[in-house]
Amino acid sequence: MKKITKAVIPAAGFGTRFLPFTKAMPKEMLPIVDIPTIEYIVREAMDSGITEFLIIINEGKECIKTHFGKNEVLERFLTEKNKTAEIEQINELPSKINVSFTYQYEQLGLGHAVLCAKEFANGEPFVLLLGDDVYVGREKPATKQLLEAYEKTGCSILGTLEVPDSDVSKYGICEPFEKTTGDLIKLRSVVEKPKLEDAPSNLAIGGRYILTPAIFDYLENQTRGAGNEIQLTDSILRLMAKEDVYSLAIDGRRYDIGSKKGFLEATVDFSLARADLADAMKEIINNRK
Ligand code: UTP
Repeated sequence: MKKITKAVIPAAGFGTRFLPFTKAMPKEMLPIVDIPTIEYIVREAMDSGITEFLIIINEGKECIKTHFGKNEVLERFLTEKNKTAEIEQINELPSKINVSFTYQYEQLGLGHAVLCAKEFANGEPFVLLLGDDVYVGREKPATKQLLEAYEKTGCSILGTLEVPDSDVSKYGICEPFEKTTGDLIKLRSVVEKPKLEDAPSNLAIGGRYILTPAIFDYLENQTRGAGNEIQLTDSILRLMAKEDVYSLAIDGRRYDIGSKKGFLEATVDFSLARADLADAMKEIINNRK
């Protein structure tokens, strides 16, 4: 089985839950302390062995391109000031990975955004990481967990988390085959944003996928679904008629940075996890009790 080396990160949505910030700035650039959200996501994939990235943007989001490119003016400035640690910081990603960009000109939904990656995938399976979902894996990065499951199955795999009843209508929800237990489960179906009474389980797709290239055959003629958007979940359901599809419960914590609560939680938790900031964050929290 060929090793997966490619990752696709859709970041072309309008981010309406984070207005007014997202009027001029991509939500994927929201800083969790001092690192943009999308950099955490790229690093998760890089730490899992991915080397080639495609980021899907829209015409207002060029600052994402700037972030992953070289900045020679800034580098010269830092060199003159002998700021070697900062130089390493800004050059690390451009020197280790290949990041390319493509545009989604109309925001027709996640399925449509993924279709923009067809040429990049070039007939190979790839990892899909949503641009506003950050994971802290318990022992391994979320992407690494999915890649290991792919090595076992050779099939598309949906990373899942268990959500409460009140949240099932916000996610794509998986239906496992009867009597399957464990973390890696073969799926019977998936449904996007079901009503609670129609939801087959509480297993929600949480922004991480491995997809085989057959997905593009379905995305190409996918009709609109929930929210009048071209839904990736609907094409995955059709893919299941041709290939097995699995879900894998991700072992770790997810932060939905596209929601204000998720962004705030991440800011607190990531500060507490950093040696240079933990005391400051504890002091801030304790002063408010
Ligand atoms: P979301 O549904 O969370 O993003 O999509 P959104 O539509 O930008 O945000 P809200 O719901 O209005 O606040 C998950 C990911 O898919 C991308 C988004 O940029 C985000 O990273 N996306 C979504 C696209 O690239 N294109 C789309 O048409 C829709």
